[in-house]
Amino acid sequence: MNKKYRKPIIAGNWKMNMLSTKTKEFADDLKPLLPKNRSSEAVLCVPFPLIPGVAKAVKGLRVSVGAQDVSVHDKGAYTGEVSAEMLSDLGVKYCIIGHSERRAYHGETDALVNAKAKKLLEKEISITPIICVGETLEQRELDVTMEWISMQVKGALSGLSGGEVRKCVIAYEPVWAIGTGKTATAEQAQEVCEYIRTVVRKLYDARTARSLPILYGGSMNAKNAAELLACPDIDGGLIGGASLKPEDFSVIINAANEE
Ligand code: 13P
Repeated sequence: MNKKYRKPIIAGNWKMNMLSTKTKEFADDLKPLLPKNRSSEAVLCVPFPLIPGVAKAVKGLRVSVGAQDVSVHDKGAYTGEVSAEMLSDLGVKYCIIGHSERRAYHGETDALVNAKAKKLLEKEISITPIICVGETLEQRELDVTMEWISMQVKGALSGLSGGEVRKCVIAYEPVWAIGTGKTATAEQAQEVCEYIRTVVRKLYDARTARSLPILYGGSMNAKNAAELLACPDIDGGLIGGASLKPEDFSVIINAANEE
């Protein structure tokens, strides 16, 4: 982390877990565990139906509410879709786009991720996109990780101005580390996060690269968070499983605070 240039962000991704009846208990348990003076931003990216309830439950905790996806369309006959305006209307501040699970199971492409980023960045919407990138185990073994990551980053940011990129967050999530308990080593995670910053520097400029928060995601937990967050180019975490447990999530938030 480099707190001089970037605010640490600890974002939970609840995926398709949790029920609305359990969110108050979650927030009540989390409250006393949060550090008093927090230098990091805490976010919970929750399933669409839980957004209003979680927003209410975390009121006063300085925890922002995020979504896990957004439609590229503005409104109309798109059954099952949720628009950026609807999210903004609910007070959503962050939105994950291009998660590897959406890429794998819902055919999300770099072009679609790019269109979603543009939608979220529209002036009247102003939701921070958390753009996910990451290689599969096969790609890592074939030694094409950096090419792949570079392609995903360039695809997601295509056509965005430097000013717009400075409003984004990128999350590096190696697919092989998600939900597997197999975390990237701090060296592996740092290497790719540093590379992402280099790609952005070449595409834009030093200022844009320096101010861009880059998160690591993939089996980040209460035990390994401190080591990962100590890396200079890892500015926070995108946390799945551990974000469903208030104790574990708070340990990670505390680790970011102490870094
Ligand atoms: P886990 O932390 O459960 O591995 O999930 C990571 C993730 O996919 C966050 O978006």
